[in-house]
Amino acid sequence: MQTHEETVQSQFDPRAAAYLTSAVHSAGPDLELAKVLVAHGVPAAAQALDIGCGAGHLSFALAPHVAHLVAVDPSPSMLAAVSRTAAARQLRQIETRQGTAESLPFADGTFQLACTRYSAHHWTRIEKAVRELSRVLTPGGHALVIDTLGQEDPLVDTFMQSMELLRDPSHVRNRSQAEWRSLMQSAGLSELEHAEWPTRLDFASWVERMRTPAERVAVIRSLQDGAPREVRQALRIEADGSFTIQTGLFWLRKHA
Ligand SMILES: C[S@@+](CC[C@H](N)C(=O)[O-])C[C@H]1O[C@@H](n2cnc3c(N)ncnc32)[C@H](O)[C@@H]1O
Repeated sequence: MQTHEETVQSQFDPRAAAYLTSAVHSAGPDLELAKVLVAHGVPAAAQALDIGCGAGHLSFALAPHVAHLVAVDPSPSMLAAVSRTAAARQLRQIETRQGTAESLPFADGTFQLACTRYSAHHWTRIEKAVRELSRVLTPGGHALVIDTLGQEDPLVDTFMQSMELLRDPSHVRNRSQAEWRSLMQSAGLSELEHAEWPTRLDFASWVERMRTPAERVAVIRSLQDGAPREVRQALRIEADGSFTIQTGLFWLRKHA
């Protein structure tokens, strides 16, 4: 029987190529907004950190705006994909390091920018991870957190989190906007900007990316078929199983 950390490795390690080409990950309004926020809010000489870098889309977007960026992930093959693509794009500012959000291998106050995108819903100890993110920032440093959000309505949330877990056993929990705000406040991070937008998950590519076994795909479809109207409406569940969730972006500053 695996630990959660082993499940994360076994889920993500074979899938670096799928994440490098995934349309949900390689594009999106968040990457454009992230570039603007960092270009205007962070000095060009900044040291930056990307936690749960995956195949590196956020790192590639931000690296041109900072002096140095460390991309951290527990998965060696994700890190290898980041190194290869960074070299091909001549992004020499990017360095990779194996690690987890809950135990960042850096001294206090190392970075002027710490960011994370589409990774936090895999973190088991989120309070510790957000404290770690804040710890490695310099006072007055900036943080950028992007993730798919949990639903405020518990009925809708239970259906959504169940579909996510059936699709990917390394899923822990999408936090709601209110949960994120409380986590950040406790870690000494003040919100400067917030944006939210709908993200449509195309069912076929969503399960394909994680190679969800057919029997689990069938359970997700049966869960969707039996979902009450308010859940189907809130998640905009479509005939082919595609559905829509909210993504949130938080731009924050550590107290000086
Ligand atoms: C969907 S991918 C990230 C996408 C990427 N940030 C981007 O911008 O395209 C999620 C990543 O989170 C990583 N991850 C899972 N648990 C983690 C943890 N506890 N700490 C840091 N990273 C973690 C996984 O290995 C995986 O590479």
